[in-house]
Amino acid sequence: MKSALEVARSTGAEVSQWRRRYEDGWAHDLDALADLIRPATRLLYLNQPHNPTGTLMARPVFEHVIELARAHGLVVFSDEVYRELEHDPAGRLPPACDLYERAVSLGSISKSYGLPGLRIGWIATRDSVLRDAVSTLSTDGAESRMRAARVVCARSLLVSRA
Ligand SMILES: Cc1ncc(COP(=O)(O)O)c(C=O)c1O
Repeated sequence: MKSALEVARSTGAEVSQWRRRYEDGWAHDLDALADLIRPATRLLYLNQPHNPTGTLMARPVFEHVIELARAHGLVVFSDEVYRELEHDPAGRLPPACDLYERAVSLGSISKSYGLPGLRIGWIATRDSVLRDAVSTLSTDGAESRMRAARVVCARSLLVSRA
């Protein structure tokens, strides 16, 4: 997603893009990804299902990407806000945080549940350092309780609609 690249660049990060090519049948070229990883590389950003194409990696490809990240000690930031809107649900991938201890999976109710106005999202990770770093950004007290209440309301709404 273009704005994700811009956000990273705005922090001063140097960003390389892993591009797929028509000539390769739009395949995910794992050698090309490996070539992009440099000693200074810290994080791999993935967006699946991809906005705007809806593209998903095949599961073995996704697992290979995770192994590459693990081998280089990279954090994987996996933007999964379009989860559950896969063109083919059979191709749904597991959350990256289930596969990799240094992955952060991002979710939101704004896309899959059509509730952008509630501004509710979450991250899931098994990395306590990353989790603690992000939790210091969130709001304490009444505001967070209000948000939690909104999540419960939104869930109930969805369950009763189903
Ligand atoms: C890939 C991707 N990630 C994250 C977001 C942000 O989602 P939200 O509407 O929950 O802020 C968007 C919004 O368009 C998106 O396309």
